[in-house]
Amino acid sequence: MKRFFLIAVCFMVVVSMVHAGDFTYVGAKKCKMCHKGAKKGEVWEKWEKGPHAKAFETLKAKGEEKNPKCLECHVTNAAVDPTEGVGCEACHGPGSVYKKMSIMKDKTKAMESGLIEPAEAVCKKCHNEKSPTFKGFKFDEWVKKIDHTYTK
Ligand code: HEC
Ligand code: HEC
Ligand code: HEC
Ligand code: HEC
Repeated sequence: MKRFFLIAVCFMVVVSMVHAGDFTYVGAKKCKMCHKGAKKGEVWEKWEKGPHAKAFETLKAKGEEKNPKCLECHVTNAAVDPTEGVGCEACHGPGSVYKKMSIMKDKTKAMESGLIEPAEAVCKKCHNEKSPTFKGFKFDEWVKKIDHTYTK
């Protein structure tokens, strides 16, 4: 009985360890309902018109939409619909946990649940020499081109 209890405790510890970093990608469409429209700063609309939402289309135009080497930087993650291109979660982190309203409206909780405020390092995961078309990256200038802030 004691031994069974010990095994059960060990099992629970392992499960909770695995669970801690276990945020998964849900896809940009899940963010749309709360982040579209004038009242919400037209975040969705700005992203949709910007370069990242068409990153998959760009590969398709080259006939490279199945090349895993290109997909690495032209889509959010293998787990979500590739046609969204570089979606919200490519920069803001996988949203399975933070997308809940009760967590989302509390910034501290959201950050603890995987939300990222993207800085230069996030961009450089893709904007680097490994990109066949790379000609340099200037964070301060480029971040303005994709700006969708509305609270500051
Ligand atoms: C149920 C509604 C809802 C969903 C779904 C949702 N959000 Fe939010 N989000 C909010 C609210 C509310 C805020 C607080 C700011 C505000 O009210 O405009 C917020 C704030 C944010 C912020 C700013 C955090 C800060 O304070 O700096 C980011 C970034 C963000 N959301 C990204 C996302 C992403 C990415 C997704 C999809 C994975 C997503 N949200 C899904 C409601 C939502
Ligand atoms: C997951 C990979 C990825 C991340 C992360 C990423 N980008 Fe990009 N970015 C791309 C790809 C791919 C393109 C090219 C899209 C196309 O033309 O189809 C692009 C294009 C752009 C462009 C347009 C460039 C041009 O020549 O017009 C800007 C500006 C940009 N990104 C800024 C940023 C900034 C700022 C960040 C960080 C906050 C960032 N990106 C993060 C993959 C990424
Ligand atoms: C390391 C990340 C990365 C990889 C891998 C990658 N790309 Fe890109 N791609 C980018 C980024 C970032 C941009 C935006 C322009 C730039 O700075 O290179 C881009 C832009 C492009 C563009 C638009 C170029 C322009 O000037 O309008 C094409 C076309 C493209 N990539 C095709 C491909 C193909 C095909 C592959 C696979 C053979 C590939 N990319 C692999 C990150 C990447
Ligand atoms: C290429 C990277 C990138 C993508 C893709 C992206 N964002 Fe952002 N987002 C940023 C950056 C950079 C900021 C500014 C962070 C800061 O506060 O300094 C930001 C800020 C925000 C904010 C806070 C705005 C404010 O005024 O406080 C929200 C909300 C947000 N993003 C939601 C989204 C949603 C929803 C999507 C998808 C429709 C998305 N983002 C796609 C990089 C990105």
